[in-house]
Amino acid sequence: MAQACQCEADRELYVPKLAVLDKVVPQTELETLFQLRFEDGAPLGHQPGQFVQVCLPGIGEAPISIASAPCEEPHFELCVRKVGNVTRALHNLAEGAYVGIRGPFGRGFPDDQLKGNDVLVVAGGIGLVPVRPLIHHILCNRPDYGNFTILYGMKRPEEMLFRDEIAEWESSNAVDLQLTIDRPHPDWSGHVGVVTTLFPSLELDAPRTRAVIVGPPIMYQFVILECRNKGIADEHIILSLERHMKCGVGKCGHCQINGKYVCQDGPVFNYHELKQLWEAI
Ligand SMILES: Cc1cc2nc3c(=O)[nH]c(=O)nc-3n(C[C@H](O)[C@H](O)[C@H](O)COP(=O)(O)OP(=O)(O)OC[C@H]3O[C@@H](n4cnc5c(N)ncnc54)[C@H](O)[C@@H]3O)c2cc1C
Ligand code: FES
Repeated sequence: MAQACQCEADRELYVPKLAVLDKVVPQTELETLFQLRFEDGAPLGHQPGQFVQVCLPGIGEAPISIASAPCEEPHFELCVRKVGNVTRALHNLAEGAYVGIRGPFGRGFPDDQLKGNDVLVVAGGIGLVPVRPLIHHILCNRPDYGNFTILYGMKRPEEMLFRDEIAEWESSNAVDLQLTIDRPHPDWSGHVGVVTTLFPSLELDAPRTRAVIVGPPIMYQFVILECRNKGIADEHIILSLERHMKCGVGKCGHCQINGKYVCQDGPVFNYHELKQLWEAI
């Protein structure tokens, strides 16, 4: 009997569920937003910051962050950059196609620690994708949070994701959005410089601020330094990590860093936890 229960639990972890591709919305030359829903109408039941394994039979699987908030279910969205076998094949699918989904997996953003506090989101490039559900969630439940600031940096203006939404956030009083591109560009009249150049003019109430950072690995060390210089505690600096993954459920060890499984113990960690992890290696 116990064995049957274990088989059922394993089945839920390993057997993909069919989802229908309802909408395909190109974002940039490389990234596309895919809106999906499960064929049986069930919600995904995720927390902002979690990911799914996208399974394409005969091709493979790839971990992809959930890009929409729980309040948007039963639909859920994935924003995917075309880089390899699975992501290219996904880009070749048309609306109405079926995709296998395993998950949601991993530990998302600690909403209980964000609620009641000021939230500073720092996103670089495609790093805006994993924090988008959190941004939507905060905007849906705005009175539960203090000051809300988003710093979004990209290399070039044409890399900007979710343009319509960003225009809405820019004109909204609910969030202080600051955009920057790395180098001057003829189509850009806004701030120029890497995302850390937005920090000097930031006025933060450090003890109340929870910083959420997602971007390319090179960005983390510089943004963490700026957050610490502003007086934000290591426990209040929250990051989402990307590692190469296979199973996504803490079984294969592929994503392991010194005994922690990024797929299961993360992908969201606070800086205090990460320091202990790196120091122990
Ligand atoms: C938690 C998590 C969330 C993610 N969320 C997103 C998301 O929202 N959107 C998105 O576009 N991507 C996301 N990614 C990244 C995505 O999973 C990878 O880019 C994935 O490898 C794409 O699969 P693929 O088959 O298309 O490409 P792959 O065939 O895996 O190739 C992608 C690139 O990775 C290299 N590579 C592959 N395997 C290895 C390996 N074992 N060691 C070293 N290099 C390797 C390849 O050479 C190639 O350059 C996420 C990754 C993680 C871990
Ligand atoms: S991907 Fe298998 S243990 Fe994390």
